[in-house]
Amino acid sequence: MLRKFPLLILSLMFISLLAFPSLGLAAEDDDKPLKPVPKAFADKHMPSGWWTDEKVIAEGKKIFETRKLEYEYKRKKKVAKEGCATCHGINAKKDRPKKRGAKDFRSSNRMNRLSDSYWFWRTSEGVKKTSMPAWGKELSEEEIWKVIAYEHTWSHGNKPAVHDHKEIENTVEK
Ligand code: HEC
Repeated sequence: MLRKFPLLILSLMFISLLAFPSLGLAAEDDDKPLKPVPKAFADKHMPSGWWTDEKVIAEGKKIFETRKLEYEYKRKKKVAKEGCATCHGINAKKDRPKKRGAKDFRSSNRMNRLSDSYWFWRTSEGVKKTSMPAWGKELSEEEIWKVIAYEHTWSHGNKPAVHDHKEIENTVEK
């Protein structure tokens, strides 16, 4: 059986992973429209010129790779220090996100849809029911924008680019 149907076994394993999101797969389906941004974040925007500012991007890279946050795993009840790279990976061609469900910033399909306000909101408040921590108390607003400017280069072949895409979803909570 195992030898005859390796593909069947593999697909069954894959399907069972999809069926049990508690195993850590994304809580938010990548094909669904993005969650609307809470009103309090609707006016948060990338400072002018920062998407392509090399100095800002270099500082963002440093934050991404070195800053860590102590937070508690819900189920394991243990405190861990994690940085962006611990979960989202270091930017290299073969380095997939390290934690299951952590978004892949190299995916322009996804990243081109995020408004700057959405991006800031998710970084600041984290994503409930997932391991994405809230960084709002650890990083200043400026630091959050820097790290976003850096992350944005991932979906543009690691080059600075203006975040100006027709796919951007600008929905705000009513
Ligand atoms: C402990 C793991 C972990 C750490 C540390 C972490 N993330 Fe995340 N992050 C995740 C997961 C998991 C998701 C996916 C949440 C979901 O399902 O919507 C995520 C989602 C995001 C999103 C939303 C992307 C989207 O497409 O909706 C952004 C932005 C983000 N992370 C930025 C950061 C930044 C910046 C840092 C560091 C300052 C960081 N993350 C650190 C696990 C982590």
